[in-house]
Amino acid sequence: MPVRGPPLPRLLLDNVSCMRNAQIILRHVNVSIHDGGALVLTGTNGSGKTTFLRMMAGFCRPTAGQILWNGHDVSDSGVYHQYRLQLNWLSLKHAITDKLTVLENVQWFELLESKMGKSLPAVELMGLGRLANEKARMLSMGQRKRLQLARLIAIDRPIWLLDEPSIALDSDGVKLLEYIIAEHRKRGGIVIVATHLPIEIEDAMVLRLPPRFPRRMTLSDMLDRADMS
Ligand SMILES: Nc1ncnc2c1ncn2[C@@H]1O[C@H](COP(=O)(O)OP(=O)(O)OP(=O)(O)O)[C@@H](O)[C@H]1O
Ligand SMILES: [Mg+2]
Repeated sequence: MPVRGPPLPRLLLDNVSCMRNAQIILRHVNVSIHDGGALVLTGTNGSGKTTFLRMMAGFCRPTAGQILWNGHDVSDSGVYHQYRLQLNWLSLKHAITDKLTVLENVQWFELLESKMGKSLPAVELMGLGRLANEKARMLSMGQRKRLQLARLIAIDRPIWLLDEPSIALDSDGVKLLEYIIAEHRKRGGIVIVATHLPIEIEDAMVLRLPPRFPRRMTLSDMLDRADMS
């Protein structure tokens, strides 16, 4: 009888490096995340947290190493096609349509997923129930963030990639964020969060990215500058 090994991590970053603008931003990152796992990315401005999330979302490719999902390299187009359906990306850009109502802004995303019925409970959970039928242009910054979080819950995909999700939230909003992350993980979901602000996430792995400094000027940079002056 074959001996069963430990379960594969759902996500594995195997010696991953990533370049942007001809500079190495992430260097030899090794992380494994199982279902229900959480990874918190910290580090100074420009250290590469958003780049990490973008790379996980497939917006940029590792320049070395591999990102494996269920043991398969996500840079393979067939694998990526399936992998991207697992992802829920929350960025600093709200993607909110002002002329739609708060509820419609969530329902629209749910519809794109061919799902139904989760938008209103999600809007209510995020404390926007009384604003559900108001136009989204009425929303404050923190309320916009709550709307984005309502989408996460309504769409309900397994891997959450969250870039600074607590920005603009009040203290109740941060507690709600912590709650929905905990509930998502209980159902086996994975959360990767880039944040400067403290967010309580039980047993999260923390990856502190080292500070980065602008590279030294190359000859071609100097020639570019000379052209501009
Ligand atoms: N569109 C881009 N093109 C080229 N380089 C970029 C681009 N966006 C960011 N960078 C560079 O990549 C590096 C990492 O940026 P990144 O946005 O990942 O940092 P961050 O840790 O998320 O910072 P912050 O805390 O400010 O959000 C920085 O040096 C930045 O200048
Ligand atoms: Mg960032």
